[in-house]
Amino acid sequence: MGVEVAVQGLSKSFGRTPIWRDVSLTLPAGEVSVLLGPSGTGKSVFLKCLIGLLKPERGSVVIDGTDLVHCRESTLYRLRRLFGVLFQDGALFGSMSVLDNVCFPLREHTRESESEVRRIAREKLELVGLGGAEDKLPGEISGGMRKRAGLARALVLEPEIILCDEPDSGLDPVRTAYLSQLLIDLNAQLDATILIVTHNITVARTVPDNLGMLFRRELVMFGPREVLLTSDEPVVAQFLNGRRFGPIGMSEEKDTATMAAEREQARAGHNDGASGEDVRGVAPQLEPTPGLPPRDAVRRRRERVMRMLPTLPDAARRSVLASFDTASATRTAETAPAHGVAGPAGGPNLGSPGEERWR
Ligand SMILES: Nc1ncnc2c1ncn2[C@@H]1O[C@H](COP(=O)(O)OP(=O)(O)O)[C@@H](O)[C@H]1O
Ligand SMILES: [Mg+2]
Repeated sequence: MGVEVAVQGLSKSFGRTPIWRDVSLTLPAGEVSVLLGPSGTGKSVFLKCLIGLLKPERGSVVIDGTDLVHCRESTLYRLRRLFGVLFQDGALFGSMSVLDNVCFPLREHTRESESEVRRIAREKLELVGLGGAEDKLPGEISGGMRKRAGLARALVLEPEIILCDEPDSGLDPVRTAYLSQLLIDLNAQLDATILIVTHNITVARTVPDNLGMLFRRELVMFGPREVLLTSDEPVVAQFLNGRRFGPIGMSEEKDTATMAAEREQARAGHNDGASGEDVRGVAPQLEPTPGLPPRDAVRRRRERVMRMLPTLPDAARRSVLASFDTASATRTAETAPAHGVAGPAGGPNLGSPGEERWR
């Protein structure tokens, strides 16, 4: 199972330019999380701080009880082995075949025999659906296939934490949908902790268990997906709906006068550039492809979110309960006979009289 990553009070600047400050969030073990943010808000910088490639001035990143911001080089080296990273540009070597690219970390970091190296690399290529492309050069395959190759390479050292930097960048919506499904399928098969950084709204709506957003040099929110997806917070709602009206501007934030003028325009019925109706609310989360095991994370998350339920805003709480009800009903229907709706062993028992106390 993947490990938890606990980020506390993290701040990062370059010289006198602050990138973000006081970021605290926990990536729950084995769950999928998405960090949203407009371009240039420091998402890639955040990922680099998580794996110790950049050093934040303040705060901690604790994994397995060790803070990798303040540990020795040798410890950092060991902790880094827990991570598999899909970099934004794929970062493949152009002159090496896809297979050799995927073999590369094994040749660098392990003493496996050449036949074992190739066996493992081929296995990961199969896992990402690239079995037939091993002899191709990165330049000979599509952007979506390059992302998959980068992902296969990120998997060869059996990471417990997988970081994906804009896995959707440069992909069309269909390729993005396939990649989203692949990430959910990998989570079901590997049970690794996954963090995806993106500004893609569809990915944010359909993939993660947890969702957060970086804006104005701060983490606006981070929590169960329902919290952001039902949020009235202006930046969050603007971003999730791809609207022009709101605090996010062309270059950076807008001043209050501009915002007031826009509100006037909106009242007058001026089109604000959104793709259509606001898509408020919580879209169904992707499920593993039929035939794959269910995601263990779903069961663990359910217990975790039930414990934090009293602390959630009303709309998020209602949405969480509705999704658990649906899941229970589906499960009950599948595993008749149905008497009451039992949660997982030791978990909350939705549908029982006890349900009232969460409302
Ligand atoms: N190594 C670096 N040195 C100085 N500035 C950097 C460095 N890396 C990133 N930045 C700056 O940090 C800001 C955030 O960058 P980045 O994390 O790439 O944003 P995002 O991934 O959200 O688009 C940008 O203004 C960028 O120029
Ligand atoms: Mg980036």
